[in-house]
Amino acid sequence: MIITQDDRMMGSAHLSEDESRVVIIDQTQLPNRTVTLELGTAQEIYDAIKVLAVRGAPAIGICAGYGMYVLARQKAELPMADFQESMHKDGEYLISSRPTAVNLSWAVKRMLALLDANTEKTVPEVVELLHDECIAIHNEDIEMCYRISEYGLSLVKDGDGILTHCNAGPLATSKYGTAIGPMLLGKERGINFHVFSDETRPLLQGARLTSYELEKAGVDVTLICDNMASLVMKNGWVQACFVGCDRIAANGDFANKIGTSGVAILAKHYGIPFYTLGPTSTIDMNCPTGADIKIEQRDPEEIKNMWYKEPMALPEVKCYNPAFDVTDHELLTAIVTDRGIVYPPFDVNLKKLFE
Ligand code: MRU
Repeated sequence: MIITQDDRMMGSAHLSEDESRVVIIDQTQLPNRTVTLELGTAQEIYDAIKVLAVRGAPAIGICAGYGMYVLARQKAELPMADFQESMHKDGEYLISSRPTAVNLSWAVKRMLALLDANTEKTVPEVVELLHDECIAIHNEDIEMCYRISEYGLSLVKDGDGILTHCNAGPLATSKYGTAIGPMLLGKERGINFHVFSDETRPLLQGARLTSYELEKAGVDVTLICDNMASLVMKNGWVQACFVGCDRIAANGDFANKIGTSGVAILAKHYGIPFYTLGPTSTIDMNCPTGADIKIEQRDPEEIKNMWYKEPMALPEVKCYNPAFDVTDHELLTAIVTDRGIVYPPFDVNLKKLFE
């Protein structure tokens, strides 16, 4: 697959022309404004990930990969030992911005491992290697998304209704995306689906991003509130559920946007196949089960105030605002990866993917 800068620019993060900054689309402004941000410091990259200006597991990995390179360039005059120490410090800092999606630490550790393996070279030489590595991380994600989309497409047929939760499209990844990749690839091939996009409380990724991406691509999409999924399924309008993932444990349990496990339980009740689609970089074989996944807790303001003209709860009211939940592997029909479709038993078959 030949991948160009134009392909890379279709995702949510890429390098600026002079390669001194990471350029992202500020996803907090969509769908009303398309604003790009240029990130040049560790603090700016950390903040962009923290406030979800760049979000989606693969996208924050890609952004962090580029970020590590941009920061490395600025330290090219340092002696190797200082360079290495400073890069590790920046890496830890970026990883601490969001704990759940494994792709963030995966990308940072991949960049640092390359550095650590090449300390006999000069710093400028290592910076050059890091340049190629961050591009490789992005290119690999584009390829993985394409393959995931192909595999996902094989699970559904023209005219099917598909329900999705949160946003796992190009904004969250690179070209095509994961969970909505089959819908976009299908559209290119004249295969049409009726997509139901959960709005995804409290940050509305489904409303602001998924319905935006699908509508722009000409895919038939209907936006629903999260609590309407059961009715839509009961009406017989959904033939499959496709969702993304932030971390897949070795036994097949997986973390994804809060509300995903509820969709899985509903799908089981109505006998609808339920799939998670994600790149192998989202599978964490060092994480035995879903109970070992750290779940990010977010500011109560997102529930009480964020989208309203005035607060929707008294200031003293307590709020519980986990960003993700874990879906039990028993609710999962299959995991669609770039290396193929993985069916139960997941503990055995996920291991085989890496053999
Ligand atoms: O908090 P977010 O918006 O980063 O959560 C994103 C999700 O849960 C996505 O479904 C997941 O990262 C997969 S993106 C391909």
